[in-house]
Amino acid sequence: MTDITEPDLWLTHDGVGLGPLRADLAETYWRWENTLPVMAGYGRQTPESLTGRTDGLQSQMRYTDGQTRFTVYRQQDGTWTPVGMTSLVIDHRYRTAEFFIYLGDEARGHGVGTKATTMVLDWAFHVTQLRNVYLSVIANNTAAVRAYEKAGFRTIGTRRQSNMWLGQPADEILMDAIPADFPGPRLVEQAINHDRDELA
Ligand SMILES: CC(C)(COP(=O)(O)OP(=O)(O)OC[C@H]1O[C@@H](n2cnc3c(N)ncnc32)[C@H](O)[C@@H]1OP(=O)(O)O)[C@@H](O)C(=O)NCCC(=O)NCCS
Repeated sequence: MTDITEPDLWLTHDGVGLGPLRADLAETYWRWENTLPVMAGYGRQTPESLTGRTDGLQSQMRYTDGQTRFTVYRQQDGTWTPVGMTSLVIDHRYRTAEFFIYLGDEARGHGVGTKATTMVLDWAFHVTQLRNVYLSVIANNTAAVRAYEKAGFRTIGTRRQSNMWLGQPADEILMDAIPADFPGPRLVEQAINHDRDELA
């Protein structure tokens, strides 16, 4: 019997999970996105209204061909709790995508960002069939840079003085990841092989 108290999770590993966007989390996403660390991390200068975010979420949930968005979950004491969002904005012409992630305050600094980033790369290469995933990050955002490096992104350059951090011009670090560098674990492959073994 299905436990309806459990969220739908597409991938899980080591206490971190990825599931679909949820309409009932509109206000939660909005709160997370308008915390100062997330606004600073994305160089955002004006907060968004809840009305605007709710409209935006409807659009994100409706148009999924060019984007894959996930709610990030963390498991604590046996319960899966939503803690953030991550996304791939896909360019189908070249099989590439830009990567984004943020977590709410409570989840940061516990390894969740690193694990979720690794899982999104697994999905990007082995479900979405992408050749290259890229991002830019403000150089001062050391937690993000470190999480991306540990998940398999490599620095490919610096865009000088192209953003701001606490009122000062700041460099952006450009990073990318390709399937050949993916450090694993290969959860998508494990899930497919597991289902095949069950049927055999
Ligand atoms: C970026 C983000 C997703 C990283 O996720 P996280 O779960 O906090 O990161 P992790 O716990 O996996 O830590 C990654 C590394 O950064 C380090 N780190 C964590 N917080 C840090 C901080 N405040 N300052 C410096 N380093 C930090 C960790 O020690 C770890 O490195 P280590 O393993 O070598 O010790 C998260 O911090 C976040 O949501 N930030 C706000 C939004 C944002 O900036 N998004 C990215 C925009 S490009």
